[in-house]
Amino acid sequence: MLSDKMQEALNDQLNAEIYSSYLYLAMQAYFQSKSLTGFANWMQVQTQEELTHAMKFYGFISERGGRINLKSIEAPPGDWESPLAVFEAGYQHEQLVTGLINKLVDLSLAESDHATNTFLQWFVSEQVEEEDNASTVIERIKLVGEAPGGLFLLDQELGQRTFTPPAASAE
Ligand code: FEO
Repeated sequence: MLSDKMQEALNDQLNAEIYSSYLYLAMQAYFQSKSLTGFANWMQVQTQEELTHAMKFYGFISERGGRINLKSIEAPPGDWESPLAVFEAGYQHEQLVTGLINKLVDLSLAESDHATNTFLQWFVSEQVEEEDNASTVIERIKLVGEAPGGLFLLDQELGQRTFTPPAASAE
């Protein structure tokens, strides 16, 4: 059984993951408006990933006998200065999410809620990957910088990203 405080905190994270999905959807739309379809594809995969994160929280709260409490989803920004600015915003967002996950881990330890702590470990590892994914693209954008056709080639590469649902064992 979840404590009221833990249930509330997990519901807040469910909301944060849905917001993440919404944010990347806005970024997808930005790239589509610029005809950078590979970048848009990368964001579409990210949007889907965030929804699976949200549903992991949904499933865990339910499994522990908690109540799902869906809250308003904040509107994301709709425009950025450049592709680099988009990924920098995404990277910053992932750092913020890492902080939220760490706070949840702290709460689970304070409450000796070992089941929640174990559940959260998947997200601790996932956030390392999430931050790395965003910072890798930032480095690539900086690398191609002014090179003619650089952004076009990167767009083709990012178009190769595919969505892989999390393994059943990690659900
Ligand atoms: Fe759900 Fe991008 O962290």
